[in-house]
Amino acid sequence: MGKPNTTLVVHSSRVFLLLVFLNVSISEASPTAESVYTSFLQCLTNHSNPSDQISNILFSQTNTSFSSILQAYIRNARLNKTSTPKPLLIITPLQQSHVQSTVLCAKTIQIQLKIRSGGHDFEGISYVSYHQPFIILDMFNFKNITVDIQNEVAVVQSGVILGEVYYRIWEKSKVHGFPAGVCATVGVGGHLSGGGYGNMMRKFGLSIDNVVDAEIVDVNGRILDRKSMGEDLFWAIRGGGGASFGVIISYSIKLVQVPEVVTVFRAANTVDQNGTEIVLQWQQVAPQTDDRLFMRLLIRPVSSNVVKGEITVRVTVVTLFLGGADELVTLLAKEFPSLGLKKENCSEMTWIDSVLWWANFGNDSKPDVLLDRNIDSASFLKRKSDYVENPISKDGLESIWKVIKLGKIGLVFNPYGGKMSAVSSNATAFPHRAGNLFKIEYSVNWDEPGIYIENNFTNQTRILYSYMTPFVSNSPRRAFLNYRDLDIGTNDFGNNSYEQGVVYGMKYFNNNFERLVSIKTEVDPENFFRNEQSIPVHPVLDSGASTSSAEKLLFSSLYRKLIINLVIVLFLILELFI
Ligand SMILES: Cc1cc2nc3c(=O)[nH]c(=O)nc-3n(C[C@H](O)[C@H](O)[C@H](O)COP(=O)(O)OP(=O)(O)OC[C@H]3O[C@@H](n4cnc5c(N)ncnc54)[C@H](O)[C@@H]3O)c2cc1C
Ligand SMILES: *[C@@H]1O[C@H](CO)[C@@H](O)[C@H](O)[C@H]1NC(C)=O
Ligand SMILES: *[C@@H]1O[C@H](CO)[C@@H](O)[C@H](O)[C@H]1NC(C)=O
Ligand SMILES: *[C@@H]1O[C@H](CO)[C@@H](O)[C@H](O)[C@H]1NC(C)=O
Ligand SMILES: *[C@@H]1O[C@H](CO)[C@@H](O)[C@H](O)[C@H]1NC(C)=O
Ligand SMILES: *[C@@H]1O[C@H](CO)[C@@H](O)[C@H](O)[C@H]1NC(C)=O
Ligand SMILES: *[C@@H]1O[C@H](CO)[C@@H](O)[C@H](O)[C@H]1NC(C)=O
Ligand SMILES: *[C@@H]1O[C@H](CO)[C@@H](O)[C@H](O)[C@H]1NC(C)=O
Ligand SMILES: *[C@@H]1O[C@H](CO)[C@@H](O)[C@H](O)[C@H]1NC(C)=O
Ligand SMILES: *[C@@H]1O[C@H](CO)[C@@H](O)[C@H](O)[C@H]1NC(C)=O
Ligand SMILES: *[C@@H]1O[C@H](CO)[C@@H](O)[C@H](O)[C@H]1NC(C)=O
Ligand SMILES: *[C@@H]1O[C@H](CO)[C@@H](O)[C@H](O)[C@H]1NC(C)=O
Repeated sequence: MGKPNTTLVVHSSRVFLLLVFLNVSISEASPTAESVYTSFLQCLTNHSNPSDQISNILFSQTNTSFSSILQAYIRNARLNKTSTPKPLLIITPLQQSHVQSTVLCAKTIQIQLKIRSGGHDFEGISYVSYHQPFIILDMFNFKNITVDIQNEVAVVQSGVILGEVYYRIWEKSKVHGFPAGVCATVGVGGHLSGGGYGNMMRKFGLSIDNVVDAEIVDVNGRILDRKSMGEDLFWAIRGGGGASFGVIISYSIKLVQVPEVVTVFRAANTVDQNGTEIVLQWQQVAPQTDDRLFMRLLIRPVSSNVVKGEITVRVTVVTLFLGGADELVTLLAKEFPSLGLKKENCSEMTWIDSVLWWANFGNDSKPDVLLDRNIDSASFLKRKSDYVENPISKDGLESIWKVIKLGKIGLVFNPYGGKMSAVSSNATAFPHRAGNLFKIEYSVNWDEPGIYIENNFTNQTRILYSYMTPFVSNSPRRAFLNYRDLDIGTNDFGNNSYEQGVVYGMKYFNNNFERLVSIKTEVDPENFFRNEQSIPVHPVLDSGASTSSAEKLLFSSLYRKLIINLVIVLFLILELFI
């Protein structure tokens, strides 16, 4: 190539200029962190008293505390990467009025609002958004809890963690508890709105079966309780997820009575011992037995200690019995003989110690470990879920073991029955009740960063999930909302929002989906409260006469881009003549 001629240089610099201008015009169409911070602060100030010191609850991207605030409630290392989309702003309200004005201002500024409580969402959708710029409303300061033993109720704010719920109840009574999840740092906001299950579910049902009232900030910035929100919305925020409907401020929960002594045990076998026999019998017993008995089954690939270098499958029965060891051993000798449980395998303890035992705190931990929010759990996680309605045959199990041995994915079988079957499937938005023997959680945690490793593990979960198809529920294949899994469908809030919503919505909510859509359409017709798997609004209103503000926004930004580009083109044409 010879010496470049000057015209070409001029031209290429013009093309460069054009590209720069185009870029500027494109980025102008979407809000910058700075502009959002400025207008948000202005709007919040407008909506509050000077004594509120509103600027103290806003963290801009340039604030030195921004990363630590963001990371404090990230519980999945997979969503803690530099490449993970970041919020333009984090708001950390200290009182209800802050939540109210945040909702109003996010609406005015037309920015997507993500709501976070405990941050345990398995796909991080409380603090990540893939399609739109967003800000986070972080509820961690809403950690008040008042326990009233006399009336056996408690009021629990959404930023409370489950460990705090258990601890504050135990502080006041040794014979009361609450049925909710096992992991102490899970947040009330996401856990209860999505259902909430734990090792007392067969006796007392889900957390939502024990919720008696709630406070929520709606899309108009009003604070509503059960009475003022009405039974429809109250129904929806028990299992339908809070994030489609508003910001949950608190739930009022009914406490349950637990015995002074409960019993736990953990019994491990491999499939080359009696493991397959145990799983076969477990499927008959665990969903039908005494309501006070919850036997979780963990199924994992492990190195064989019989044949060196071989992989086998270990099945572990992890149990809580709301009663004494003698009664449990007698019961299981009769119902579950293949387990061969002896009294020496059991530990009797108080209910609060069983909470610590289930959460894998060390033997001499004191209950106050339940108050610790600063866990450093940096594992990478992926989860999926399924429901099983018919027992899996011996051949079926043996074929599943073969697939499990090839990878690193574990299965957790959680038995249903008891109270879970007694509550009708439309009593709350959570639909998976009678007819389900157990729920499967697909579970893998890993600690090495890297996109190849990540794809390898997530691919493995999909392969196993696909293999399980003939053994699990179908049409629709069901899933548990709190085991968030974006593989089963997502929403981009476009013209097909409703159709997209049907795909994951039927799996999570089955026959309750349409009622959720109606309630959503009623309380939030413009779909302000949205996320990758939120409840869509009804399609008729979606494409109807009134243009939604999102469409207006899209239109005005396209229009702006068009004008800017026209000006640039004119400018370039003019320049050619000079
Ligand atoms: C280690 C671990 C153990 C778990 N164990 C269990 C278990 O034993 N049983 C069980 O049922 N589940 C369990 N889960 C799942 C857990 O219940 C869900 O992830 C739940 O949604 C977490 O609630 P959160 O407030 O911590 O999550 P977040 O990530 O803060 O929120 C989850 C969802 O709820 C929305 N949300 C949060 N707060 C509010 C609010 N105040 N108002 C409106 N919407 C809100 C978010 O926008 C998001 O969509 C576990 C998860 C993890 C990571
Ligand atoms: C705040 O209030 C002022 C005066 O009422 C108004 O001009 C301005 O537009 C408001 N700003 C926002 C972001 O709401
Ligand atoms: C960060 O934000 C907080 C809350 O708004 C504020 O108090 C603090 O001064 C800010 N710090 C910096 C360095 O900007
Ligand atoms: C997120 O990353 C930071 C460092 O960038 C680290 O300190 C923190 O422990 C990580 N958290 C999780 C859950 O991975
Ligand atoms: C928590 O309770 C205290 C004492 O009643 C109150 O001052 C505070 O505002 C409450 N916090 C929230 C977030 O409601
Ligand atoms: C019970 O304990 C004995 C002795 O430690 C052990 O050999 C046996 O495997 C245990 N049984 C179960 C079901 O865990
Ligand atoms: C295995 O299960 C069979 C059938 O239930 C039972 O008879 C046997 O005792 C069990 N064996 C062991 C080693 O637990
Ligand atoms: C914890 O207690 C169990 C029995 O309850 C016992 O088998 C185990 O060895 C103890 N572990 C430690 C670390 O003390
Ligand atoms: C649940 O469904 C039954 C019939 O299947 C109906 O009678 C009842 O009204 C429904 N309950 C609610 C809360 O929708
Ligand atoms: C995961 O699956 C995708 C799609 O099937 C494939 O392209 C990719 O190579 C796989 N990656 C790994 C690491 O297995
Ligand atoms: C994951 O990596 C392992 C080796 O580490 C390999 O054997 C396996 O085939 C990979 N799985 C997938 C789904 O790519
Ligand atoms: C949505 O539908 C409208 C009207 O049918 C159409 O003009 C528009 O291009 C569609 N938008 C998208 C993102 O598909």
